[in-house]
Amino acid sequence: MIKRASVLVGTLVLTLLLSACARGPARTDNDTHRETLAQNEKKPVSTAVVHNGQGNPRRVLIAYFTYPDNTDAQAIHSKEYDVMTSASLNVKDGEIIGNDAMIANEIARETGGDVFSILAEKPYSADYDAMIRDEKAAAARDEQRELKSHVGDLSRYDTVVLVYPIWWDALPAPVTSFLTENDLSGKALYAVASSGDSDFVDTVEDIAELEPDADVYEGFILRHDEMGETSDAVRQWLKTANFMK
Ligand SMILES: Cc1cc2nc3c(=O)[nH]c(=O)nc-3n(C[C@H](O)[C@H](O)[C@H](O)COP(=O)(O)O)c2cc1C
Repeated sequence: MIKRASVLVGTLVLTLLLSACARGPARTDNDTHRETLAQNEKKPVSTAVVHNGQGNPRRVLIAYFTYPDNTDAQAIHSKEYDVMTSASLNVKDGEIIGNDAMIANEIARETGGDVFSILAEKPYSADYDAMIRDEKAAAARDEQRELKSHVGDLSRYDTVVLVYPIWWDALPAPVTSFLTENDLSGKALYAVASSGDSDFVDTVEDIAELEPDADVYEGFILRHDEMGETSDAVRQWLKTANFMK
């Protein structure tokens, strides 16, 4: 009886060992990221406003700029793209989404506001490190960027939330182009940002200079390693900004 039990236990252990070997080495987050990327076909980013419209007394537009919407989607969705060296990519519900798009979508979910992605005419390099280097030089030259997406008639909005990453301690050039192209006079304009670890630096003052007749407010800034706290940060901010009143 004892002998039969030990044979059974031995067989079970062997079976478990063999099935573990058949499964191969332990999977990592990187594997999962890569698989999700591989499953994503090239998805064009909309250049139009996405209308939501839940019951909010404010008429809100959330305009955001994010690197992943502004690069070659084909490259970023390929197996070769090194997601882990980029601080910009999140995989949410099988979709690849930039930090500021995540923040913008969360604000839209909470406020019922419309969403608009600011898109540069010329895409940025899909090689994250190369793009950072190029942008440093471009920022030093104060290079302007033409836009591919245009928001159109803004008269239906009284509140604009501008969501952007800090780039070289300043506004990314397409955000400056968006503010130059659109007159936000008379509107409440909230600055919300993400960064590696900078604060707003002078970006809120720069926004106020570009929109002298808007009421410009500093919103909140989220570090890129805090993206998991996006929902809480947005809800907290909306409470303190009395946004839904
Ligand atoms: C060109 C470039 C310049 C950046 N400069 C800064 C910086 O000056 N300070 C900082 O804290 N983070 C900096 N970052 C990090 C981004 O602000 C941060 O990763 C942000 O969350 C990216 O947002 P996104 O995914 O929406 O593009 C920079 C990133 C890039 C690509």
